[in-house]
Parts: sequence; structure tokens; C-alpha cells
Amino acid sequence: MSEKVRPKALVLPGDNPTDRPPVGPPMIERLGLGVCSPGRGQTMSDRNLSIRRMLLPRDTNPHGYIFGGAILAEIDLAGAIEAARHTKHAVVTKFMNGISFDLPVKMGDTVTLYTTLTHVGETSLTIKVEVEASRNGEVAPVAVVATEVVYVAVERDAEGNLHRVPVLD
Ligand SMILES: CC(C)(COP(=O)(O)OP(=O)(O)OC[C@H]1O[C@@H](n2cnc3c(N)ncnc32)[C@H](O)[C@@H]1OP(=O)(O)O)[C@@H](O)C(=O)NCCC(=O)NCCS
Repeated sequence: MSEKVRPKALVLPGDNPTDRPPVGPPMIERLGLGVCSPGRGQTMSDRNLSIRRMLLPRDTNPHGYIFGGAILAEIDLAGAIEAARHTKHAVVTKFMNGISFDLPVKMGDTVTLYTTLTHVGETSLTIKVEVEASRNGEVAPVAVVATEVVYVAVERDAEGNLHRVPVLD
């Protein structure tokens, strides 16, 4: 009986612990993972990678084009993820800036959503969401849509109604 040969572990660049860049604040900043501590009325500039995913047949309309609503849902989710980085309150979507899809997004494209906190109001956070698509087989991503979304910090009263609360308290 022949002896089983165990495959050697695949070693990739960076797998050697001595090759790895040090983890710490500089690494966190490079990856855009730093969480801001915004003040009311301030404008922030950190752009964070929020969501990256491939578009599948479930994202297409009956004619085979990517359904705009599928992208809108991702935009709303990406913005909500960014908002949750900055407030402990639940947030609801109040306003989405005019959206124009100027370039097609295709099934099999990978969409990447970047978010930037652009304004801290009294009860609201404004998040810029930028969507890029990487075409199957193409290296450079293309910018397909960008918008600003306003989220309002809310609580429910005894009757279950939403009412807005200071976003930073
Ligand atoms: C969120 C909600 C409680 C806010 O109630 P409201 O008192 O009517 O809120 P307002 O219209 O006064 O605005 C609240 C904040 O949003 C901002 N805002 C409202 N409309 C805006 C617009 N068109 N553009 C930019 N900001 C806007 C206001 O400036 C305010 O921010 P600030 O407190 O930081 O100054 C209420 O509108 C609601 O329940 N909406 C439904 C939310 C929801 O369910 N969303 C999911 C989608 S169905």
C-alpha cells in the first residue's frame, strides 16, 4: 500500500511572520479601519470600504439587467453600517440624494461600496456612498454611482412610534 503524501502547506508572500507588516495604528489607518470621533457639525473625510460582493442572477430584472433596487439596497446597507460606527442609537433612512445610474452594472461584476461620513447634524448623520464595479476580467474598477444618504437617530416611545434623538448622546 502506497503511503499517502501530505501536500506541503502553500506559503504565500506575507505568510512568514517576519514578512508581515506590523499591526497597530499605522496598519489600521492604511486599511481605513480607524473609527472617527466626530463632533456635531464637523465634516469627516475618512473613506471606508463597507461592502464588496459579486452580483448574481438574483440581482437581475426579468430582462437580465441588474435591478437598480439591488444596488440601492446595498447603498442603504453600506450607509447604515457607516452610521453605526458613529452613533449608538438605532438609525433610520431619512433621505437619499438623487441617484443616476450612468454606467451599466452587469451580472458577475463585483461591486464595492465605499462610505464617508460627511456631516454630523443634531439628530442626523450624512453618509456619502460611492459604488464601483469591477468587470469580470478587467482590473480597473469603474465608478458607477455615488450618493449621499441621511440617517436619523431614533428611539421608540411607549406607543412604539419613532422619535428622533440627538445623534451623539
Ligand atoms: C426619521 C423620523 C423619525 C424623523 O422625523 P422628523 O422629526 O420629521 O425629522 P425631520 O424632517 O425634522 O429631520 C430630521 C433630520 O433629518 C434631516 N433631514 C430631513 N430631511 C432632509 C433632507 N431632505 N435632506 C437632508 N437632511 C434632511 C434634518 O435636517 C434633521 O437633521 P438634524 O436633526 O441633524 O438637523 C421620521 O421622518 C420617520 O419616522 N421617517 C421614516 C423613516 C423610515 O422608516 N425609514 C425607512 C425607509 S421606509
